[in-house]
Amino acid sequence: MNSSVIESKSLTKTFGTTTALAGVDLNVQRGESVAIMGASGSGKTTLLHVLAGITAPDSGSVQYFPAAGAPVDVTALNERDRSRLRRESFGFVFQQGLLIPELTAIENIALALMINGSPRRQALEHAAGWMASLGLAGFEDRRIGELSGGQAQRVAIARSQVTGAELVFADEPTGALDSQTSSDVMSALLWSTTGQGRSLIVVTHDADVAARCSRTVHVRDGLIVSAVPEVRS
Ligand SMILES: Nc1ncnc2c1ncn2[C@@H]1O[C@H](COP(=O)(O)OP(=O)(O)O)[C@@H](O)[C@H]1O
Ligand SMILES: [Mg+2]
Repeated sequence: MNSSVIESKSLTKTFGTTTALAGVDLNVQRGESVAIMGASGSGKTTLLHVLAGITAPDSGSVQYFPAAGAPVDVTALNERDRSRLRRESFGFVFQQGLLIPELTAIENIALALMINGSPRRQALEHAAGWMASLGLAGFEDRRIGELSGGQAQRVAIARSQVTGAELVFADEPTGALDSQTSSDVMSALLWSTTGQGRSLIVVTHDADVAARCSRTVHVRDGLIVSAVPEVRS
């Protein structure tokens, strides 16, 4: 039985004369949390975007294996189907949550469900459940600007998870947070993904964040240079 959730083969991507990806093979198993580390400009964000079907690679393939149903060749999908895959199967958390400041916390989360067709009331109820699970009960009606950085990131995590996404992509989700808040946000992110049998791919500069993942891969000049966990002394 194949328990991979996503697999890339020989991914390449150039921007003009810059090689962002030089042939990346990566396999992520269901239930795994994988940290992607590497210097600025090494290709981490490009890799995340190609895996998630946001950016098309120049060559190579990405296969997504849903828990139910046939494997999906992400790179072969048209734009409409890729957009639907991102909406229904994947979740995203970025450094700055990209939350909508005009909406309240609960509306930001519920919106992800409403876009997929849930009635508003049901979406709000579901969103409230996620907020409670992530320690945000009582903050439902705050606007994003009225939340702390850590609270806003937990709203972003709830939004990425509320649709039941099987695979969550996070790009420096703790990059703007102090170390205690970063640790709390990472707990929320791991609880809501691998803690529920889902999978997480997280780009990070923070060794403490990477240490909490099941595996770390290092990217250098668009290549994975080591997929072995670092030995810590
Ligand atoms: N849209 C783009 N246009 C031009 N160059 C890009 C673009 N996206 C990324 N790059 C270049 O590709 C390389 C890898 O970028 P990126 O994947 O963002 O690295 P990282 O996330 O590791 O900092 C860098 O040299 C970056 O400048
Ligand atoms: Mg980046």
